[in-house]
Order: sequence, then structure tokens, then C-alpha cells
Amino acid sequence: MILVTGATGNVGSAVLEQLVEAGQKVRALVRDPAKLGELGRKVEVVKGDLAKPETLDAAFAGVDKAFLLFTGDDLAKLAANAAEAAKKAGVTHIVMLSSSTVVQAPEMQIGRWHVEAEAKIKASGLAWTILQPGAFASNTLNWAGSIKSRGAVFQPTGDGKAAPIDPRDIAAVAVKVLISPGHEGKSYMLTGPEALSAAEQVAKISAAIGKPVAFVDVTEDAAREGMVKAGLPELFIRAILEAHAMVKAGLGAHITNTVEELLGQKARTFDDWLKSHGKAFQ
Ligand SMILES: NC(=O)c1ccc[n+]([C@@H]2O[C@H](COP(=O)([O-])OP(=O)(O)OC[C@H]3O[C@@H](n4cnc5c(N)ncnc54)[C@H](OP(=O)(O)O)[C@@H]3O)[C@@H](O)[C@H]2O)c1
Repeated sequence: MILVTGATGNVGSAVLEQLVEAGQKVRALVRDPAKLGELGRKVEVVKGDLAKPETLDAAFAGVDKAFLLFTGDDLAKLAANAAEAAKKAGVTHIVMLSSSTVVQAPEMQIGRWHVEAEAKIKASGLAWTILQPGAFASNTLNWAGSIKSRGAVFQPTGDGKAAPIDPRDIAAVAVKVLISPGHEGKSYMLTGPEALSAAEQVAKISAAIGKPVAFVDVTEDAAREGMVKAGLPELFIRAILEAHAMVKAGLGAHITNTVEELLGQKARTFDDWLKSHGKAFQ
């Protein structure tokens, strides 16, 4: 039995889907089973919350392997709770979704969160594999609102490039390392196949929807104001601005070949991702 967390999100939902396609016995740990929709009918579903240790024993009972991801402002706490429950249940292998910031910018808030969470998983004594992706292609869904309402994207990243990775590729790597041997004790930095600036991604979205979309390179202060208006907590605003500054400085442009090496096929491009998500911007 393989346990999947984050199953209502970008990567976890794809992990769940691909494990089902691969004929694996799968259980989803979710806070709200109703959010799983159709997918919930194809797998075992257990209600649980990584922030509430008392809900985890039932979720981990009988589990051999687990795909774990942690979000929010205390990743280490969630990771410690999951590690504890996994250990109690006799889980043999944990595959954790982390972040490339652990390697590229461990001093940044996002990097620190993931460094601390990785440490909890490694300290569990269980076999682990860590996936460290860079920026997700799905982050551009955050632009959908301003593209629809103002025909523009506002972001303080200048000409800085990122190498957006399709969450389906992260999921495919997760499935590969979950169901084939030899990945224990390894960390894999994962990126998309091409480095693109925000303006280049916006141009691709514009072409996909057949409407003009402008990219506006705003100041950090303007970006902060927008996030404050949107009600984001200060800690997240600072973390996001740090990530934007990292991209602007050129650190997001690094490309690895790891997806292709592990899967034996080319990583999906941003255009590939757009083919199945373009509607979100219309
Ligand atoms: N976006 C990027 O560019 C990027 C890059 C590198 C690494 N990452 C990392 O990738 C992870 C996010 O992956 P994602 O985009 O697939 O996630 P996502 O779409 O943001 O979804 C988060 C998932 O986690 C679940 N969740 C949140 N808190 C939980 C809790 N206390 N207990 C159980 N489940 C909980 C959510 O469930 P609900 O439906 O109940 O909310 C949801 O299924 C984060 O660790 C992030 O730092 C992201």
C-alpha cells in the first residue's frame, strides 16, 4: 500500500492518478475527502491532517511506502508528525517533495522551511528519497486573475528566467522512485527543459489563448502592495519576494537533465503544460 499526501494539489493528484494507472494499491490522506472528486472513487481515502498527529495512525496503518509533501509555515512540524507515524506503522520508504532552494538558496525562507523538513525525514531512520524541484509551471495559474481582468501579468522578476517543471513530470519521477529500487538515500534536483523569463511565459500564454497579454516588471514595493491587498500573511509575502529576487538574479535558470535520465523521456515543456491548462487563462 502506498500512501499519498497532498492528493488534492498539483503534484499529489498527479501522483495518485499515475499510481492508479500503474496498478498500485493506493491510499490518499486528505483533510477533506469531498475535494478529491472523481479520483476519490478510484483509491482508498483516509481523512487526516499532518498537523494533527492523532489523525495519522489510521492513515499510515498497513502502508509500505509514502509520498509526502508539506506546505504552510511549519513544514518541519508536519514532517516530524509524518515521520513519527510512518515509523510506527513500519513504512519502508518515504519519497518527499522538497524544493531546489535547499541546494540553491538554503538561506531563503522557502529554503529554510524545506531544509528543516528534510532533516526530520532523514532523522526518522527510514529509507528516503528527496525530490527537489524548481518552479512549477502551474505557478502561472496565479496569473489567471489579472490576465482575465487586465490582460496583464505584474511580477518583479525582470528578465530573470526560471525553468518551469510540469507537476506531471514531478509525479512521474515520484512514481518511478516509489515503485522501482535503487533510489534510497538520493536527492534529485528536478527542472523543466527550458529556461524562460516571465515575459516569455506570458507570450506563450498569450499565443495559446489568442489574446494580447502584457508582462509588467513591477517593483518589489508594488508587488508587496498587491499581496497585502490580496490578504497574504507577511511571512509568505517575504518568502515570495525572496523567491522572485532569486529568479531576477538568475538563480532560477539552472536546468537539470534528471527528469529525462530517470524517466527515459524528455521533460514536458511549458507549451506541453499549457496545452492542458490554457483554458484557465481564458
Ligand atoms: N510551486 C513551486 O514552484 C514549488 C517549487 C518547489 C517546491 N514546491 C513545494 O511543493 C509543495 C506544494 O506542492 P503542490 O503545489 O502540489 O501543493 P498544492 O497544490 O499547494 O496543494 C497542497 C496540498 O497539501 C495538502 N495539505 C496542506 N496542509 C495539509 C495538512 N496539514 N495535512 C494534510 N494535507 C495538507 C492540501 O490539502 P487541502 O486540499 O486539504 O488543502 C493539498 O492537497 C510545497 O512543499 C512547496 O514548497 C513548490
